Amino acid sequence: MTTENLAERLTLYGTAPDTEIAALVKETGLERVVAALVDEVLFRCDDPVNTTPVDIALEVGHGEETHRTVLRMSRGEPIRVIGGDDPSVVIRRHLQFALTDLVRRLYGPLHAQHSGDFTDVFLPDRPDDLSRLRDILDSTHQAGGTLLSGCTAQAPGLGALSVRYGSDKWASFHWYTQHYENHFAKYRDRPVRILEIGIGGYADDLGGPSLKMWKRYFHRGMVFGLDLFDKSALDQSRLRALTGDQGDPTALRELAAEHGPFDIVIDDGSHENEHVRVSFDALFPYVRPGGLYVIEDLQTSYWPRFGGTSGPVTAPDTSVGLLKRLLDDIHYAEFDPKPDEPRTITQSEVIGVHTYHNIAFVEKGVNGETSIPAWMDDEAWKALGAITPEEGREEAQSR
Ligand SMILES: C[S@@+](CC[C@H](N)C(=O)[O-])C[C@H]1O[C@@H](n2cnc3c(N)ncnc32)[C@H](O)[C@@H]1O
Repeated sequence: MTTENLAERLTLYGTAPDTEIAALVKETGLERVVAALVDEVLFRCDDPVNTTPVDIALEVGHGEETHRTVLRMSRGEPIRVIGGDDPSVVIRRHLQFALTDLVRRLYGPLHAQHSGDFTDVFLPDRPDDLSRLRDILDSTHQAGGTLLSGCTAQAPGLGALSVRYGSDKWASFHWYTQHYENHFAKYRDRPVRILEIGIGGYADDLGGPSLKMWKRYFHRGMVFGLDLFDKSALDQSRLRALTGDQGDPTALRELAAEHGPFDIVIDDGSHENEHVRVSFDALFPYVRPGGLYVIEDLQTSYWPRFGGTSGPVTAPDTSVGLLKRLLDDIHYAEFDPKPDEPRTITQSEVIGVHTYHNIAFVEKGVNGETSIPAWMDDEAWKALGAITPEEGREEAQSR
């Protein structure tokens, strides 16, 4: 099993019984499982704030075995895994977890209670220099807090994550995260697969802020990004950066067949109106029923340089034009007369279109509700006591 496959498999063990977790360890080896968990913890950790360096050991026990990883934390520096105990570091702390408890913390339900599921060895040795005791205690506290911030499925809100990773989805060019929060909350506990078109950074910069934000938010998710430029240097556990052109429907279908189906697809790529339509047509079939297709930056529907319409009423070939057509498609059951052609995929499978300023969420499902039966004519309505609007007005005036 590759490291990437192990990381993906672990996301499925958040509610597994001890026996299944033990079987995974037997198959893979404790060291590899712990390495994957530490990798995940380090990704989730807040930045260290302790001013005096702290070596904090994460000890993960399973049966008779314990695996120990020593982490060096110091404000302004990335957390480092160090080879072992370093006598020059005065502050030590050990957090000891049972492997099963750590797996449940990372991949279990978001609101599960975890307390008393680890042992904390706080500063095992009396510091020599008591004049620095306040700072030593503060730094020990802070480093423990940093490590525990990584040992949980709970995450800050998407606004804060957007700022933390440097995405423009909130508090700069856009105000999208409030809408994402509303629409994505129900998927958070699930092992979702998510594809975002547009990784960021264009040709010069590696980008990837929103992919990291999704990885942190969806603690059991597999996150895929697609960009015109090669950003595979971003690859890490639960995150893959694919290269391709969203204007090429064949390439899109191929990648979706290999990595999909997806629970969520987000289009934050070129924002060319034609690309938005091509991508939607190619990828909507690969969204799972119950999933979402999100289109960002609808403003380009009004910008001719992106293929948008000049003026207040958008043409059908724009992104907003696509959404207006989907609103009609949802009402297929009401069409009178019905078209001769077979029902399209969007007429059968779009069940909701939620549009906000510059962003839309298209819901996929079974658009199977029928209309009111055709035999419900005026006579039938009268039998139920209904009156026509004209009769209603006359009745109201006569009172
Ligand atoms: C707005 S940025 C994405 C920002 C990122 N999603 C975030 O929220 O941080 C747009 C990205 O789309 C990529 N892009 C532009 N045209 C594309 C195309 N035809 N196919 C795929 N990606 C494209 C650009 O290289 C750029 O990195």
